[in-house]
Amino acid sequence: MRKLKVYIAISLDGYIATANGSIDWLTGFPNPDNTDYGYADFLATTDTTFMGYTTYLDVLKLSETFPYSDKTNYVFTRQPGRTATADVQFIHTDIPAFVQQVKAAAGKDIWLIGGGQLNAALLQYDLIDEMILHMMPVVLGTGIPLFSGIALEKTFRLTHSRAYDNSVLELHYQKV
Ligand SMILES: NC(=O)c1ccc[n+]([C@@H]2O[C@H](COP(=O)([O-])OP(=O)(O)OC[C@H]3O[C@@H](n4cnc5c(N)ncnc54)[C@H](OP(=O)(O)O)[C@@H]3O)[C@@H](O)[C@H]2O)c1
Repeated sequence: MRKLKVYIAISLDGYIATANGSIDWLTGFPNPDNTDYGYADFLATTDTTFMGYTTYLDVLKLSETFPYSDKTNYVFTRQPGRTATADVQFIHTDIPAFVQQVKAAAGKDIWLIGGGQLNAALLQYDLIDEMILHMMPVVLGTGIPLFSGIALEKTFRLTHSRAYDNSVLELHYQKV
């Protein structure tokens, strides 16, 4: 079974973006050693991505060409009318059945890119297998949470951690 893995950066207080959706606090964070925080190695373990529609729009804004065109990309939406592009397919039907079907198919692991709403939906259905979080040493005070809009208790097990010289903490969690 392929694994569904979150790989995402969070603030010290658990936000993935400011309330207006900005990630400047993240992209502009000092990185004197020019580390990629394990991103290239992580990407190589995946061949499929999942995104919420808002995150998809941000990805389009952030880069001139779609950055994951070598992967199979699914964008989750509640709007049935969105048309697939060369890079993405839109999913608006039964989420748990669709995700189980993708996980059961042959292939590498699946990157759950975000954002908070989609993360929450997939956590609620108990479909997230692993999380790699990069905790930035920044407090935002308010913002878009890692898991948005759910009241749910779920425990994960820490399998690995790494502290970078610029005070970023990398945390690997597995489903218990
Ligand atoms: N820190 C990081 O590394 C990181 C990573 C990823 C994203 N982000 C940031 O996170 C923010 C976006 O997060 P978000 O929580 O606002 O939005 P999101 O989860 O990316 O997308 C929300 C949209 O996804 C669709 N959706 C959500 N739940 C669904 C469900 N249960 N079934 C079907 N479709 C569903 C809906 O699309 P429709 O409106 O089309 O129905 C909804 O409007 C952005 O600012 C982005 O830049 C940060």
